[in-house]
Amino acid sequence: MLILGQITPPDLHGFLPTRGSVMLDFVFVALFAVIPVMAWSIYLVKFRKPDEVYKCEWHKRIQLALGVILLVAVTAFEVDMRFITKDWRSLAEASPFYASKIVDYSLWLHLCFAVPTPLLWIFVIIRALQRFPSPAAPSDYSAYHMVWGKVAATAMFLTAVTGWVFYWLAFVA
Ligand code: HEM
Repeated sequence: MLILGQITPPDLHGFLPTRGSVMLDFVFVALFAVIPVMAWSIYLVKFRKPDEVYKCEWHKRIQLALGVILLVAVTAFEVDMRFITKDWRSLAEASPFYASKIVDYSLWLHLCFAVPTPLLWIFVIIRALQRFPSPAAPSDYSAYHMVWGKVAATAMFLTAVTGWVFYWLAFVA
């Protein structure tokens, strides 16, 4: 039987032909699905016709689903980093960008977006659920939500882009 504490990182290579762990590979790939789905959800409300208010409800459902996925991914990622992979550095040491600390800088840049993004999403979702009618439709809260919705969506997009860059520098190069 495998005891987690005895697994060394080289045993934990993921499913991509890189040095990433299973969880790093999973998040790397999942973000390629999350970003287009989020863009589609915003497109639905932004370009709806006056008689297509029902698209607001679809936007709500998609954003709630993405919010749950984001929460599960963050939790799984934390568990992976703390208890399973533990030391991502040993996986990244072979990168030509590791010694010069470029990998570290890219991680810091990524964390600048990755840390506030879940908080922004929780805030935007809770306020939207409280202030929009159900089924979802425009209200006097729309202007506020459109500003914070754009901030939350941009933060998510930049989390993904900086995450992909970090993954490539640390585990592909
Ligand atoms: C983190 C999650 C969410 C993000 C990032 C987000 C993002 C956005 C953005 C950027 C817009 C503006 C589109 C435009 O430029 O016209 C928008 C509109 C809208 N959102 Fe969200 N949204 C989220 C969650 C929700 C939830 C949970 C609800 C419902 C409870 C909701 C209801 C609406 C409605 C009704 C509009 C249309 C407002 C109007 O046109 O008057 N959103 N959302």
